[in-house]
Order: sequence, then structure tokens, then C-alpha cells
Amino acid sequence: MIKTKSEIEKIVGPFKDKKGALISILQHVQSKFGYLSEVAISDIANELKLSENEIYGVATFYSQFKFNKPGKHQVKVCLGTACHVRGGHDLMGTVERQLDIKHGEKTKDSQFSLERVACMGCCALAPVMVVDKDIYGKTSSTKVKQILNKYKNDGGK
Ligand code: FES
Repeated sequence: MIKTKSEIEKIVGPFKDKKGALISILQHVQSKFGYLSEVAISDIANELKLSENEIYGVATFYSQFKFNKPGKHQVKVCLGTACHVRGGHDLMGTVERQLDIKHGEKTKDSQFSLERVACMGCCALAPVMVVDKDIYGKTSSTKVKQILNKYKNDGGK
């Protein structure tokens, strides 16, 4: 279990008296823990003197927030315009087959989770795939297995 309380206090602290800071707080918490756990939501609610429902009401409105723990390695395939045009959907299909999951899911062994993203900000490298913080540009479907193998069995970072 994640020890969140003191970390949440540290994150919320600088924003406490600022109006409209909830989104920033949620982004910071997700960045720190990888997702918004029930415990984290509860702690944020306590810190801000809001109800958990109010927090969920805001967080569920934005697709960027995740409520389930991601896999050990987070795989993202870009399906923005440039990547779409250069084979992003084929790339996604290959990754889904290799991992035997669909985007939005996690492998049974929790090693990988897979997401689609709208643009990674490096369109010149399209099609783009990201594993954790590693960017793989001009990625063909034939490279996918090799890339994923780097992270299997505790490989990668
Ligand atoms: S559209 Fe894929 S990186 Fe911009």
C-alpha cells in the first residue's frame, strides 16, 4: 500500500488557499503515484475540506486522470494526426497483440499497461510509442517485440 498521507499533505500545501487549484493538485498526485487511488482522493478531500464526491466529480470529468494502478511499465501509443497518418493504428494493433490486451488495460502479470494518447509533442518522429519515459520514434510494427522485450522480466528502467 502506498504511504500517501504525508506526500499528499506536501503536494496540497502550496495550493491550499488557491481557488481552482484542484486540477493542479490532482495532476501532481497522479504524477507522483501514477494514478489517483481511493486513499489519495480521501486524503485530498480531507486536506481541502471537500467531500470525496466533489473530488471524483471533477476528476472523472477529465480523461487524463486514472483511478486504477497502472502496470509496472506504462506503454503509450500515439494516435494523434501525424502518428495516425503514419501508421499509429497499425502500431497500436501490434502492441495490443504482443501484450494480449487492449488499450486501457493491464497485462495479467501487471508488467504492462497500455494507453492511447493524442499527441506526444514529437510529431516529426511519427509514429511514436512511449514506454515509461523512453520515446521510440518512427516505430514500425516489426520493432515492437524488440522494444517490449527490453522491459520484460524487470528489464528497462
Ligand atoms: S501526433 Fe503523435 S507525436 Fe504528435
